[in-house]
Amino acid sequence: MPISLSGRHFLTLLDFTPEEIRHLLRLSKRFKSLKRAGTPHRRLQGRNVVLLFEKTSTRTRCAFEVAAMDLGMGVTCLDPGSCQMGAKESIADTAQVLGRMYDGIEYRGFAQEAVEELAANAGVPVWNGLTDDFHPTQMLADMLTVEESFPRIEGLKLTFMGDARNNVANSLMVACSKLGLHFTACGPEGLMPEGDLVARCRGIAQETGATITLTDDVDEAAAGAHVLYTDIWVSMGEPDDLWGERIDLLEPYRVTSQAMAKAEPEAIFMHCLPSFHDANTTIGAEVAARFGVTEMEVSDEVFTSAASKVMDEAENRMHTIKAVMYATLSRDDRLPGT
Ligand code: CP
Ligand code: NVA
Repeated sequence: MPISLSGRHFLTLLDFTPEEIRHLLRLSKRFKSLKRAGTPHRRLQGRNVVLLFEKTSTRTRCAFEVAAMDLGMGVTCLDPGSCQMGAKESIADTAQVLGRMYDGIEYRGFAQEAVEELAANAGVPVWNGLTDDFHPTQMLADMLTVEESFPRIEGLKLTFMGDARNNVANSLMVACSKLGLHFTACGPEGLMPEGDLVARCRGIAQETGATITLTDDVDEAAAGAHVLYTDIWVSMGEPDDLWGERIDLLEPYRVTSQAMAKAEPEAIFMHCLPSFHDANTTIGAEVAARFGVTEMEVSDEVFTSAASKVMDEAENRMHTIKAVMYATLSRDDRLPGT
């Protein structure tokens, strides 16, 4: 049976079957080849999308904009604080207004319930560009990057080290469960994934051959890993005064060359970005001045090493987001180029 995602929302990978996720990855690869070959693919000419950002962004915004333009679509981007939603107009009313003008809506914000409410009221596909709970478009880019690094992804061990209950760690646990990778969350008590989500992912994992391991032991987590993944220690929307506490809790979980040495010889390092691997940012410099820490979740050595795939991940955001928009907006189920 051909897979059709036409008209679907993209709010969390929990809503998608493994085969649907693999379909999106195949489509992403097709779009990546077309882009690399310089072959035009304006398959959605005449459509329009709106990108709503309640938090800042570089990769997600640029990926949606370039992908939409490559597909021939018009794009409106609403920066944090620049539209009426929330302050003067409810999410439900905003969704209906935007749904009358646009063919699809991207939303980056705080509560997962907000993107769900947009989806319930828009009448057009809504794509989650990151909430406090999930970052599903990031997952497609990450899984594509893993596929490009290993002959087969099923059965690989992917370890997340650090704040293992944030949106990216949650989403990795879901993605690995769906696609049959062994997921290990490694962090301190209190920063581990929430029990209900772990139970749900373990249920999925039983069907796919994946496993979910939670540990505070870095040696156990890194041993035999094919992917070591980390993310920033204080996420967007969390208060700045958490930095001191998080540094104390998470320093043992920094991805260092010592941790990489415990992983498989061909192991890769991954990070959704942005990253505090040095103090060359405003916040990085402030943290360095206050706490004397110049590298946080990953050492600069690992970040800049040959094992680091972070820029491939960043590029793959665009190809995979293009696949999501095409699959949900197109009425033609064929892969482009077939
Ligand atoms: N990884 C990611 O979502 O990056 P941005 O915050 O720059 O969009
Ligand atoms: N956990 C991070 C991811 C950024 C892409 C955050 O939410 O800020």
